[in-house]
Amino acid sequence: TQSLRLGVAGLGTVGASVVRMVGRRAEALAAATGRDIRVTAVSSRDRGRDRGLDLSAVQWFDDPVELARAPDIDCVVELIGGSDGPAKAVVEAALSAGKHVVTANKALLAHHGAALARLAEGNGVALAFEASVAGGIPVIKAIREGLPGNAVSRVYGILNGTCNYILTRMEREGLTFEACLKDAQALGYAEADPTFDVEGFDTAHKLAILTSLAFGTVVDAEGVSVEGISGVQPLDLKMADELGYRIKLLGVAQLAEGGIEQRVHPTMVPKSSAIAQVMGVTNAVTVDADAVGELTLIGPGAGGEATASAVVADIADVACGLVRPGFGRPSAQLRPASRVEMQRHEGG
Ligand code: HSE
Repeated sequence: TQSLRLGVAGLGTVGASVVRMVGRRAEALAAATGRDIRVTAVSSRDRGRDRGLDLSAVQWFDDPVELARAPDIDCVVELIGGSDGPAKAVVEAALSAGKHVVTANKALLAHHGAALARLAEGNGVALAFEASVAGGIPVIKAIREGLPGNAVSRVYGILNGTCNYILTRMEREGLTFEACLKDAQALGYAEADPTFDVEGFDTAHKLAILTSLAFGTVVDAEGVSVEGISGVQPLDLKMADELGYRIKLLGVAQLAEGGIEQRVHPTMVPKSSAIAQVMGVTNAVTVDADAVGELTLIGPGAGGEATASAVVADIADVACGLVRPGFGRPSAQLRPASRVEMQRHEGG
């Protein structure tokens, strides 16, 4: 069998899980793809750290860009994170060198997705990013592969596990925002800079990617109106509860007057609604489309293993030779960001 040699850039929570998963699922992956998939190189800032991985047979790179250019790697798995800096350099170097790229990097795609997709197309390679939105939920595949016959009118959901985890524990246990955030960080859910989670930017990045795929537009992260959860007080949750609501951080993209509107903000949802039942680090994405009607996917939105599941799904696609065109075309109209109309409910 022909092999697929992977270079994994970044060995954090997700990177380590990907290396383990590719190893333990080697046989199943070979059966599913007809190829022998192996991690042959890794790079990380911290070479000495014990990750519980056997990397004795794997080539080490201190510089991830060198890994991206190495001639004996077929596919680069970028798990460094961040919209600029090394992650961007790695992805550009890999695509330019004619290598496929699998990435979980929503910030990178939200800001540079269109240019990177063009670079991938120009070089005839795949740029795959299932893990960039909603962790383990295969929502990118569901929209791209499952719904091309549909006109989508709305896509919305809970897209940040850290925020939903914090809101859930604040509501259930009456804990402070700070205590819950610390736990989310310890569990490996939060971003390196948790401001991205709690101020809504991470949700905005993911929403911009979903909008592009659902409506066939270019990715426009700047076009998202954003408000996070750092201002939500325990009293807000209590008052919402008394009125029969929960507060969730939602990302919403929908057809509106003047184009597609994208917004992120804490939202009161009736306790009886499906989205109100989504607790903890779980994510949920609902798509309203003309042929299938309403479709909801619910699953783990963060964490090493769940996110690695999505990364490995993309690796399997690459092994099968799947090369999709990147993001949408600049034809459909996106509305520029406006101030969030909906006010956060201060006790109703
Ligand atoms: N920090 C993100 C979250 C990780 O909490 O959802 C997954 O993208």
